[in-house]
Amino acid sequence: MKHEVFPADAERGGASALVASAELGIDEFRQIAAIMQAEARIHLVETKITLVHSRLARRLRERGLTRFKDYVALVNEDEEERRAMVVALTTNHTHFFREAHHFDHFRGQVLPVLQGRARVGQPVRIWSAGCSSGEEVYSIAMCLAGDAQASANWLKTSDVKLLATDISPPVVDAVRRATYSAATVEPIPQTYRAKWLRPNGDNFVIADELRALVTARVLNLFASWPMRQKYDAIFCRNVMIYFDDRAKAELEERLVDMLAPGGHLYIGHSERLIGAAATRMEAVGQTIYRKSGGGQ
Ligand SMILES: C[S@@+](CC[C@H](N)C(=O)[O-])C[C@H]1O[C@@H](n2cnc3c(N)ncnc32)[C@H](O)[C@@H]1O
Repeated sequence: MKHEVFPADAERGGASALVASAELGIDEFRQIAAIMQAEARIHLVETKITLVHSRLARRLRERGLTRFKDYVALVNEDEEERRAMVVALTTNHTHFFREAHHFDHFRGQVLPVLQGRARVGQPVRIWSAGCSSGEEVYSIAMCLAGDAQASANWLKTSDVKLLATDISPPVVDAVRRATYSAATVEPIPQTYRAKWLRPNGDNFVIADELRALVTARVLNLFASWPMRQKYDAIFCRNVMIYFDDRAKAELEERLVDMLAPGGHLYIGHSERLIGAAATRMEAVGQTIYRKSGGGQ
């Protein structure tokens, strides 16, 4: 099967044209899929062969290779290239205030409880698991802070921490930079934009006060987790769609274990809890679940 994904390169000729027309045979695709399963539990079905070809063509070019067979051999022996392949094959699509009903629920139902807990000196912990470039975690931060200094002041006197994790180091760096284009910040409500964005050339940077709440870390959700505290809310949205049912059920269990009693789990619009974890959670909204206990 041939995939001509860079016709412009092909017209120009040279090495990149060779890569563009390199064949990704089903055997190599299956080996790549097996590596993705082992490394990240990402489940690549055979209909993704064109996508995999187009995303890896650049890796071949950068490594001076013209055959997928040689690339698979390289990935098998070179850990760094294996990590680069995982990065290339993850989908990082995200945007600010994606699935707005989650943020409405969080502001309306969860925030008052968290503020009550903070008032009596209890810590508040929120995790964006599979955070991509940070739009999700900074949307949460804006909900916590509101759109005025008065509504944000409670954060200064409280122990509030947001963790943002992803398997892909470049997106974790983007969370740390907290710098977004004008088009990217468009979905942020105007009052939040006015309060929490600082212009920086053509871009916008999230205000230091919100950035200070966020810790960004590289973390494979299927590795061991170093966190010891329980979370009041976990956003793991549009991440589980990439896993097979066994991996999903395993991850759900671990996420529910990480929630404090009464904690909330937000998952993506096309996702649902499928494993035993569902029995430990009450559905309290569209793709929103609450762990029993906690007296809320
Ligand atoms: C489509 S984005 C979702 C971003 C955000 N949660 C949202 O809903 O807008 C999925 C993210 O999950 C990450 N991811 C995929 N597999 C992962 C794994 N095994 N461990 C950690 N993160 C993973 C990807 O790198 C990607 O950034």
